[in-house]
Amino acid sequence: MRIGILTSGGDCPGLNAVIRGFCKYCFNKIKDVEILGFLEGYAGLMNREYRQLTPADVEGILDLGGTILGTSRQPYKLMTVKEGDGPTKLQQMVENYKKLKLDVLVTLGGAGTHKTASLLSVEGCNVIGLPKTIDNDIYGTDVTFGFHTAVGIAADGLKRIRTTADSHRRVFFVEVMGNKVGWLTLYAGIAAGADAILLPEIAYDEDNLAKFIQEKMSSRRSVVVAVAEGAMSAKEAAMSKKERRDYLAGFGSATAAERLAGAISQKIPQQCRATVLGHIQRGGEPCAFDKFLSSEIGAFGAHLVQVGRYGVTVCVRNNRLGFNILTDIAGRTKRVPADGQLVLLSKDMGIYFGE
Ligand code: F6P
Repeated sequence: MRIGILTSGGDCPGLNAVIRGFCKYCFNKIKDVEILGFLEGYAGLMNREYRQLTPADVEGILDLGGTILGTSRQPYKLMTVKEGDGPTKLQQMVENYKKLKLDVLVTLGGAGTHKTASLLSVEGCNVIGLPKTIDNDIYGTDVTFGFHTAVGIAADGLKRIRTTADSHRRVFFVEVMGNKVGWLTLYAGIAAGADAILLPEIAYDEDNLAKFIQEKMSSRRSVVVAVAEGAMSAKEAAMSKKERRDYLAGFGSATAAERLAGAISQKIPQQCRATVLGHIQRGGEPCAFDKFLSSEIGAFGAHLVQVGRYGVTVCVRNNRLGFNILTDIAGRTKRVPADGQLVLLSKDMGIYFGE
């Protein structure tokens, strides 16, 4: 059996642990197995750049951050665009899948990777997706690998900000990754005792936020606000995508937290500061839970290969591994429900969501 495997899109801790779990199962349980690791994500399949993975290649990588295969972002929108007279990227990949006589392609990736995996599956390739992302936004799974490590890092960042904020009686806007969804900000914010949490799913009102902070500062030495990268004011949320892009361009390269620190400092007497946690949230060793989850997801993906269950992506539901049909989940996003249990309980604890 000839298997292709690749890691695509933004990386996250746990990718190597998944590759390891997957390969170990295959080497142990599947006869005459050959595993081709495509380099730099879908680009490796497009350009037929790969290396054969051996048992030795997956030794000692359980703790390793990043991906031994490399990754790249290959926008889904460009997959079916013709470049001159040549084939589309999708056609190139399907052609190479056939030329290399692959029996199955295993893709470790997030929402964009799954959309492309679904296209490949519709084109007749046998594909299995494995759910990666620190954003935890893949539809149909309770959790993705990489998420819990990022929660730990972001919560640690928020916690460290608290002590310096306290020393200086400052207000801090700490930006957490998550452009479209706020799971990471929500979990890290709750875990770190943030005073306010601003998510892309719940638009904030600048004046109300300023009032909340002012009031808090009357009895506290600091206020720490966890801000998702894609958090929006009510005014921004009411704009069309294009209007919002043009409006935000007026702030140059300022990020959500930086814009907020600027705006709120005009409204209150306290000093406001912004800290952008950035890619540190995606780097380094996975936490123990992610090492466990990644190993299990990798092994379960290999089990699906063994039984020939293709056109699916692995998911976790109520603590059990299972799978969803790729075409059912591709293009859908798991967002934080604004009126869901987590947000409501957090509000009851006094965490402010900016409304
Ligand atoms: O999808 C994961 C993610 O880290 C998002 O949270 C973030 O918006 C984006 O990737 C950043 O992408 P890049 O690493 O390409 O700048």
